[in-house]
Amino acid sequence: MQIHPIRCVDIALGERSYPILIAEALLDNPAAYRDVPNATSAMIVTNETVAPLYAARLEQALGARFKSVHLVTLPDGEEYKTWQTLNLVFDALLRHGCDRKTVLFALGGGVVGDMTGFAAASYMRGVPFVQVPTTLLAQVDSSVGGKTGINHPLGKNMVGAFYQPQLVVCDLGTLKTLPQRELSAGLAEVIKYGPIADMAFLDWIETNLDALLRRDAVALAYAVQRSCEIKAWVVGQDERESGLRAILNFGHTFGHAIEAGLGYGKWLHGEAVGCGMVMAAHLSHALGLVQADFVERLSGLVRRAGLPIKGPCLSDSDNAGRYLELMRMDKKAEGGEIRFVVIDGSSSASMRAAPDAMVRQVIDACCS
Ligand code: NAD
Ligand code: GLY
Repeated sequence: MQIHPIRCVDIALGERSYPILIAEALLDNPAAYRDVPNATSAMIVTNETVAPLYAARLEQALGARFKSVHLVTLPDGEEYKTWQTLNLVFDALLRHGCDRKTVLFALGGGVVGDMTGFAAASYMRGVPFVQVPTTLLAQVDSSVGGKTGINHPLGKNMVGAFYQPQLVVCDLGTLKTLPQRELSAGLAEVIKYGPIADMAFLDWIETNLDALLRRDAVALAYAVQRSCEIKAWVVGQDERESGLRAILNFGHTFGHAIEAGLGYGKWLHGEAVGCGMVMAAHLSHALGLVQADFVERLSGLVRRAGLPIKGPCLSDSDNAGRYLELMRMDKKAEGGEIRFVVIDGSSSASMRAAPDAMVRQVIDACCS
């Protein structure tokens, strides 16, 4: 088997620490799973799109380690990130007689990863799990840091748990089959890391965006590595989001309102976050925190990445009111007061409340 250089980023969380392995052709390399806890059985959780592409390769690699490797294939889509779908995982685990040492493997994007992590957190009060992310978004963000869960019709990711994986295996080769729209969605979360933590990385993304969009292997490897390094730095200081970690939600307050308001799955999560970052940048400007030219710079980059920069209309009668109503459900809201992640244009972010009238003006200016 050809050996590709493996980049390794560590998540430092004491006894819950784990490595993120990043390389081409990792998925079917048994050595990648060498340090996974011993067990007799493994369960691969994937979906109907990813299964035919990659499940057999992962099954083969795990066959060397586990006496039995089971597979459960979920329906594909954000609209299936629900209790009903989660139950399919529990049904399969119980049907196969899986015990509390069984290791779950999340093979797919963020939807599969979030649901598998939540299943692992709750099955028999907790079994080990491994993230094998196959979208750019999942490799740079959702597979790392231990946020797991499902959506509720009234709010995004409202039910879940903090539960860390044992290992994250990012096979860059899987990104070759990703639809272009999904690649762009992943770039939203890559771009996010610039304004909140690393302006040099923002410069790098601007310079290398065309290479990323044509899936240049070297550019993608660096984007995944640097994104994971920044996320590891944040999560290592604030695992359960008592403060700093909230900056990773830049763009997400507006973005989650878009996803829930339109109905899950209409806009991709990354599309909603891309547009949400532009809206949050405008709000930061209205609060006097960031210069107008930085807002323009960020909007231009989001647009070049193939993402929307104008928010959708969520209500014909009172669009801004509907956004506000949905954003009051945000997990960062306190006592009904929405708290936004805002930026200052020099790679730092903070949390602020803003007057409703100002938020309304921003929404009116940013929606088509
Ligand atoms: P997704 O999981 O829906 O995957 C996107 C699409 O790509 C799906 O249709 C999927 O089947 C398909 N796909 C996956 N890998 C593929 C491949 N290699 N080739 C071809 N098709 C492939 O979406 P996503 O963007 O990966 O994740 C979004 C989800 O992640 C949202 O639910 C969001 O809330 C969650 N999220 C969680 C965190 C966290 O910290 N836990 C962070 C960010 C986002
Ligand atoms: N994606 C936000 C977080 O992990 O905290």
